Amino acid sequence: MDFSAPSREHRRVVILGSTGSIGTQALEVIAEAPDRFSVAALAAGGNLDLLAQQAVSTRAAAVGAAGGTEADLERAIATAADDAGVRDYAPVILTGPDAASRLAAWPDADVVLNGITGSIGLAPTLAALEAGHLLALANKESLIVGGELVRKAAAPGQLVPVDSEHSAIAQALRSGGADEVDRLVLTASGGPFRGMAREKLVSVTPAQALAHPTWAMGKVITTNSATMVNKALEVIEAHLLFDIPLDRIDVVVHPQSVVHSMVQFVDGSTIAQASPPDMRLPIALGIGWPFRVPGSATPCDWSAASSWTFEPLDEDAFPAIRLAKAAALRGGTAMAVYNAANEEAVEAFHSGIIGFNDIVDTVAAVVEELAGSPAGLLPGTPTLHDVLDAEHRARASARLRCGLQDHPLNTNAE
Ligand SMILES: NC(=O)c1ccc[n+]([C@@H]2O[C@H](COP(=O)([O-])OP(=O)(O)OC[C@H]3O[C@@H](n4cnc5c(N)ncnc54)[C@H](OP(=O)(O)O)[C@@H]3O)[C@@H](O)[C@H]2O)c1
Repeated sequence: MDFSAPSREHRRVVILGSTGSIGTQALEVIAEAPDRFSVAALAAGGNLDLLAQQAVSTRAAAVGAAGGTEADLERAIATAADDAGVRDYAPVILTGPDAASRLAAWPDADVVLNGITGSIGLAPTLAALEAGHLLALANKESLIVGGELVRKAAAPGQLVPVDSEHSAIAQALRSGGADEVDRLVLTASGGPFRGMAREKLVSVTPAQALAHPTWAMGKVITTNSATMVNKALEVIEAHLLFDIPLDRIDVVVHPQSVVHSMVQFVDGSTIAQASPPDMRLPIALGIGWPFRVPGSATPCDWSAASSWTFEPLDEDAFPAIRLAKAAALRGGTAMAVYNAANEEAVEAFHSGIIGFNDIVDTVAAVVEELAGSPAGLLPGTPTLHDVLDAEHRARASARLRCGLQDHPLNTNAE
C-alpha cells in the first residue's frame, strides 16, 4: 500500500488476536462493511474452537494459532465447517509461537490489525511493518517495548493507532500543523477505583479490578486501567506516535469516557473527539485509515441532557504514569522492563498472591533494580535481542519479588 496516497479501495485485513475483545469487534466491523473490507488471515493464541468458527465464517485464506498443533487446528476447522454446513474450505494452517508473525507478513493482504495482548505482539508488529502492510495497532505494548526499533521500522503513515485515545488525537491533529500543537491531553475514565486513596486500594480484589465502569475489554488491559498502567503506557505510546515530548502530554480523568482525548493548539484552541465508548469506531478508522467508515458506531445523542466532567488524577494513589514517564526518559530498554514487570505482577495479582498496590510497586522496584545493574537497562535504540533480553531479566525479577516462581509461566511471557 502507498501510505502517502492511500486509496479507498477494498482492503484485505489480517487480524492478529482475532478471538479477543479487539479481534471479535474487528470481525463485526468487517462483516458490517463488506464493500470496504474482507478477512485475509486470522491468528489467535489457544482458543482454537472460536478461531476455527471465525475462519469458516470469514473464509480466511490462512489461519494461525500460537497454541496447539496443526492437526488440532485442522480438526477444529473441520468440525466448525461441518457444523456450518461448509464444504471445500481448506485454508493454509500455521501453528507455533511464530504463527502470528508469519501471518503478519501474509502477502495477499493490505492491512494488519494487531490485537494481541502483551509484548509478545512485538515480533508480529515488526513483521507487518517489514512486509509493507498498513499496521492498525491496538497492541500498544509492542510500540512501547520496541520504542525506536518500531519507529524506525515504520514508514511515514504506515502505523495507525487503534487505541481510542490515540485515534482521537490522530483525528484532532487533522485540525492544525505539527508546529501548532501545544499539548496532548489524554482522557482516563479513572477505572473502578477512581477517588480511592492508596490505603483503601490495599484490599481491593481482582474481581473488583475487572469491573471497569465504562469499557468491556480483555483481562490485562482492564487490570491496567484500574492501576493506571494502561494510561501510563498510552502516554508513552502518544509520545512515540506523535513525537511530542513527555512534558507536553497530560492526563485528565473523565469518568464518562465520551471525550476520548484532545489536542490543545498554540492559539489556545482545544480540539476534542467525542463518541460513546465503543471500540468499533477506532477499529474501523484504524483499518480504513484515513477514511471514515459510515455507521461504525452510534454517535452521541445531542438531544438528551448529559454532563461531562473532568478532574485531575491523584498521582499519589496512582503513581504508574509518573513512573512510566521517568522510565521512558531513561530510554533504551527501560519501558520494556516496565511493561514486562507489569505483565508478571498482573498475573501475580490475579493468582491472589500479591495485592493491588504491589503491582505498581513491583514495577518500580524492578525498573530500579535493573537500572542499577550494568546490562540491566541498555541505552540507545535497542535491538530485538536487547528487548527480549531485558524483558527476560525483568520477568525473572518480578516473578521472584511476587513469589510467582512456582506458578505456571505467564502466557504472555516469551
Ligand atoms: N479491548 C479493548 O477495548 C482495547 C482497547 C484499546 C487497546 N487495546 C489493546 O489491544 C490489545 C488486545 O486487547 P484485548 O482486550 O482485545 O485482549 P484479549 O481480549 O485478552 O485478547 C487477546 C488476543 O490475543 C491472542 N493471543 C494471545 N497470545 C497470542 C499469540 N502468541 N499469538 C497470536 N495471538 C495471541 C488471544 O488469543 P486466544 O484468546 O486464542 O488465546 C486473543 O485473541 C492489547 O494490547 C490492549 O491493550 C484493547
